[in-house]
Order: sequence, then structure tokens, then C-alpha cells
Amino acid sequence: MNVTKDIRYIGVNDHEIDLFEGMYIVPEGMAYNSYVILDEKIAVMDTADRHFVQEWMGNLEAALEGRKPDYLIVQHMEPDHSSGISAFMDAYPEAKVVATAKAFTMMKNFTGTDYSGRGIVAKEGDKLELGSHVLTFITAPMVHWPEVMFTYDSTDKVLFSADAFGKFGALDAEDEEGWACEARRYYFGIVGKYGAQVQAVLKKAAALEIRTICPLHGPVLNENLGYYLDLYNTWSSYGVETEGVAIFYTSVYGHTKEAAEYLAQKLQELGCPKVAVSDLARDDMAEAVEDAFRYGKIVLATTTYNADVFPFMKEFIEHLTERNYQNRLIGLIENGSWAPTAAKVMKGMLEGCKNTTFATAEVKIVSAMTEENKAQLDQLAKEML
Ligand code: FEO
Repeated sequence: MNVTKDIRYIGVNDHEIDLFEGMYIVPEGMAYNSYVILDEKIAVMDTADRHFVQEWMGNLEAALEGRKPDYLIVQHMEPDHSSGISAFMDAYPEAKVVATAKAFTMMKNFTGTDYSGRGIVAKEGDKLELGSHVLTFITAPMVHWPEVMFTYDSTDKVLFSADAFGKFGALDAEDEEGWACEARRYYFGIVGKYGAQVQAVLKKAAALEIRTICPLHGPVLNENLGYYLDLYNTWSSYGVETEGVAIFYTSVYGHTKEAAEYLAQKLQELGCPKVAVSDLARDDMAEAVEDAFRYGKIVLATTTYNADVFPFMKEFIEHLTERNYQNRLIGLIENGSWAPTAAKVMKGMLEGCKNTTFATAEVKIVSAMTEENKAQLDQLAKEML
């Protein structure tokens, strides 16, 4: 695949993977992107996951058409992109590896080889001339690891964006839901904690003329770039993407579920533009996490358990707080048959979230829903809107 006249796609698709990064289900597989820039000098952008190094080397060889690469640019040392470094350096002993100083340290730790003797340390704003193409390196710490850098090709106006603007899904898979669905789950799952760092690199990118974004996962983006940049700006500033209310519940015998569904129906009747409901025990946790960041208003409904909250709810709230959850209105519904404590525990867990308020309507179910609970839920629905 040609990205531009001189830039070729040489990445691979992974349909074998069960859990990406040991945690995320990827029903449509995963793509590990890599690119080669063919100029007087040749630069290769990142490698691939260890199961696909041979296939990636084959793609590279085909793109090179008998030529030899001069540089391997390592933008990110996470093994889904860096596992081909040793194979590349062995196959092309004249080539130099270009990476940040932190990346060289990680390279030694991952490969057991110190490549700094065959390396060029890239710092913020450093340039690399390939002939007609001039590359500029842009450090992007914590998007997604501390050693990360982006690379900007000012000739073709291409931004190589490392993990940023990536998504779950192989490139040869169907993408019926559109880019944002799996890009959002990927973003909040993997980079969500580092909104401030993403904002910092977006500011640097705003100064560049960009025609194409080449991420390390997901499709090459070359149309309507404002759409993707706006979404990244909303996500990284913890803004509200979609108006509506997201309800998250756990339920042991169905009573808390009944409350969550009653509230969802009430919200719809009151004209709430969108109501999303997740069962935290059964739905994908990463989908639930992305929904919590997508909507500006959420309701958490759960049972008391071991004088605490039900485990799936506890895990869910921890996913939110460790990702700097903020700027939200939160409603709470608790259930407890003899000593309800869930609302108090949930509030305590979320209290440190910046610019977050709690709905005042209290919904306390003691075992099963009552008419009084319905009135409390009616009140909560009104308050959420
Ligand atoms: Fe796709 Fe952070 O590695």
C-alpha cells in the first residue's frame, strides 16, 4: 500500500491475538503498522509484534526492491512495535537506529543489546534529512510510554503519530461501527490517564500542516483530519463527547438491574438524548470505561458486598479514577439487605475526581424495589437532566 508516492505501508494484521496488552479483547484483531520512506536514504518507521517479525521483514524486503535501509526509526519501544529491532539490525548491519535516549535504554533492556553505538539519539525538534524528505522528531512522553516520539515528514506533510490516533482492529477486518468506536475504547483503555500529555503533543501538532496521519495501529488517516483531531482534543481534555446519561450497574438477583432499567426508561420518557446501560459483570469492561468518559453524566447502581461495593463496580470505579476521571455529574443507587454501604463507598472512591458533582437524590433499595424507590428514581432522573 502506498501512503504517498515515497511512503509505503509494510505493517501486519494479527487475527491470532486473544487479549491485546494482556487485557483487551480485540474481536476484529489488531494491526501493527510500520512504514518505509523511500528517498536517497531510506528510513523504516518501527517494526512489529514478535509473532509477525518474519512477515514484516518480508514486507520490508518487497518494498525495498533490492535497496538497503539506512535508518530504523523507533518511535515506541512497547513490544507490539519493537520486536523486530534485532532482526532488522542483524539483516542490515550498515543501518542506524534513531530513537530517544529513553528508548535506547529500553532497547537494551528488551533485546539485551546496546544499540547506542549504531544509533542516533533524537531530541525534540531534531531533523533527519533523507534527500527530498526532511523528518522532524517530536517527543510525546506518556503517549503512551515515556520514550515515545512522533515524526513529521514536512515534504509529504505526514505525521507518524506512534500509538496516538490508533484503534483496535486489523486493517483487513470489517469496520461497520466506524473509526471512533474502537479508537475511543483504545484511547481510554490505554492512554486515558495521560490527557495532559496528549494535550501537550496536540498543541505541538497544531503548529504543523498535516495531510496524513500514520498511526501504529488502525487505518492511515488522510481525509477529514479535523474530525479525528477534535475527538482527540475532547477525549484528552476529559470533555463531553455525547449528550446523554450512561448507567452502569451490577446486580445479584435482578433488583438493582430493575432499578437501572427503570431509571433508563424514565430518562428516555423525559427526553434524554441518549441513554446507555452497561451490566458491569457481563459487558466488556473497556467498553463501559469508554462510555463513562464519552458521556457527561453517569449513574452507578450496585449492591453492598462485604461491607463494600460489589467487586465489578469496585474494579470499574478504579478504572475511572486511575484514568483521572473528572468533569462529570454522578448519580448513585445502592442496594443492601441489612447494612447498605455501597453509596458511601462509591462516593468515597470518587470524591477526589476534579470538577465532579454528585446528584443529591438518594436511592437506597433495601433488597427489592419499592414505590418509594420509584419516586426516588423519578427524582434522580429529573436531576440528571
Ligand atoms: Fe501499540 Fe503502546 O503500543
